[in-house]
Amino acid sequence: MIWYPYEQMKTMKAPYKILDAEGVHLYTKDQKLIDSISSWWCMIHGYKHPELTEAIKEQADRFCHVMLGGLTHEPVEKLSAKLQEFLPGDLDYCFFSDSGSVAVEVSLKMALQYNTNQGRKRPLVLALEHAYHGDTFKAMEVGDDEDYHFAFDKKEGVVHIPTEIPALEEAFEQYHDRLNCFIVEPLLQGAGGMRMYDISFLKRARELCDQYDVLLIFDEVATGFGRTGNRFVADLVLPDILVLGKALTGGYIGHAVTVANHKVFDAFYSDDDRLALMHGPTFMGNPLACAVALKGIEIFEREDYMSKIRHIEQVSRGEMEAFTDPRIKEVRIMGGCVCVEVHDSRNLEGFQQFAYERGVFSRPFLNYMYSMVPYVISDEELIRIFDVMKEWFREK
Ligand SMILES: Cc1ncc(COP(=O)(O)O)c(C=O)c1O
Repeated sequence: MIWYPYEQMKTMKAPYKILDAEGVHLYTKDQKLIDSISSWWCMIHGYKHPELTEAIKEQADRFCHVMLGGLTHEPVEKLSAKLQEFLPGDLDYCFFSDSGSVAVEVSLKMALQYNTNQGRKRPLVLALEHAYHGDTFKAMEVGDDEDYHFAFDKKEGVVHIPTEIPALEEAFEQYHDRLNCFIVEPLLQGAGGMRMYDISFLKRARELCDQYDVLLIFDEVATGFGRTGNRFVADLVLPDILVLGKALTGGYIGHAVTVANHKVFDAFYSDDDRLALMHGPTFMGNPLACAVALKGIEIFEREDYMSKIRHIEQVSRGEMEAFTDPRIKEVRIMGGCVCVEVHDSRNLEGFQQFAYERGVFSRPFLNYMYSMVPYVISDEELIRIFDVMKEWFREK
């Protein structure tokens, strides 16, 4: 029996069974659905993209997997070289893993060991209120959402602050000699409620991290590859460690990468074996994942996805910015993300089925109805999603 994610198995509603998927569409036995959330935000090129499918097939005809322990291969060499060129600044060292959560774990391990390798004891992590960084243990600890991880509330190694500059300055003032890193979802906090904040906060964070030699980690698992309207938020403020996942492979195979700058890498580079980074997921650098990621980045650049995302934002603003209802607390829009926050989560009960019957797959959570569309969506399909959201408030 399948144990489904984030569900009380006793009371959960049966999931929709997908028989086929193509472009922005999911097919069930009785519906053709626009996927308004890109399969948990990763499917940026849409489903069954012929070039992505072909990249996987071509690599599968050679070999599907070899480990990176003592071996290497062309797809992983090409992908790390491509990322080195594609990513800003001196983010040059790629440590691959099989999921965003694991890539976050690796980033936190790097930050802690960056200090111990230099003989410094700095056990604390600074993180944001409402942060979500994944479901593994350290990722849960730096996360801050009682709505997800209520069973695990031990947060001894972490200080959480709001996205406000005075709180940031106060935290550095108080804890700077114990902090190894500051980890953030930059500009857009996803699973904690699609919360958006200003770049000035990150600029100030960069200054303080430089002043106190605290590593700045951007978890761009959700925001990377254009979601905020920037290729990466790292293009605006440069972190020491960047974590990417989800859209890295266009959602075709689970894979992620933790990319370190020279300063971080140099703290591990030594004749002493004990200073090495001791981590190695079985499937890191999987050749199928690397091949599809390379093709995905090629398409992202060739098809000028950033202008597609700017257009999606423009249409989203035109359709949703002025939409109001007494039940709505706020409508937030950034790049390829729209969030309608309601005052009471009961106002969204039944919305998923309502949307299903109107040809849209949606998955509201808590007080949030949102879209994070595949970038290949047409205007007509995008507007259909927003019409269904608006119909919900008008008809209910
Ligand atoms: C910002 C962020 N970090 C990490 C993760 C975890 O990624 P994964 O589900 O691939 O483990 C997520 C997943 O939604 C995320 O949004």
